Amino acid sequence: MKQPLQLQINGESRQMLVEPFYSLLDCLRDEAQLTGAKKGCDEGDCGACTVLMDGQPVTSCLVLAHSAHHADITTIEGLASVAALSPVQRAFVEHGGLQCGFCIPGLIMSATGFLQSNPNPTEEDVRFAIGGNLCRCTGYARVVEAIMAAAAEMRAAQ
Ligand code: FES
Ligand code: FES
Repeated sequence: MKQPLQLQINGESRQMLVEPFYSLLDCLRDEAQLTGAKKGCDEGDCGACTVLMDGQPVTSCLVLAHSAHHADITTIEGLASVAALSPVQRAFVEHGGLQCGFCIPGLIMSATGFLQSNPNPTEEDVRFAIGGNLCRCTGYARVVEAIMAAAAEMRAAQ
């Protein structure tokens, strides 16, 4: 039976009625109409569904929506507007860190959460942080380069 759920999504309070078995990913995509988080494997292996939950990257396909009751959720749609990309989004574009794009929302959310906790990472730190995000296209070199560049830009701006 559907039960009430309250989430803070991208700064906006959202009330919904969802089944107890619903994942946070399905809730975001089907109930909140936010389709930036992608459903790749739906079992925690690919990272395409990564969002921030109370500031921490989570694979939203593995999070029961009701366990996120009252949590603060940030999706790729909440990072920035098209007119003003976030530093991580901009760096992915400038450094060619994307091809087909399917994995990119998840990679950007992992990188964003990671840089909030480690603003001065090594390349090895970055590779570890995105270890759960699979990308079939880029070979990761430009992705890592983009995240390192975003980190440098964010440090310089502080
Ligand atoms: S869809 Fe969640 S980890 Fe692949
Ligand atoms: S850019 Fe295509 S899967 Fe990563």
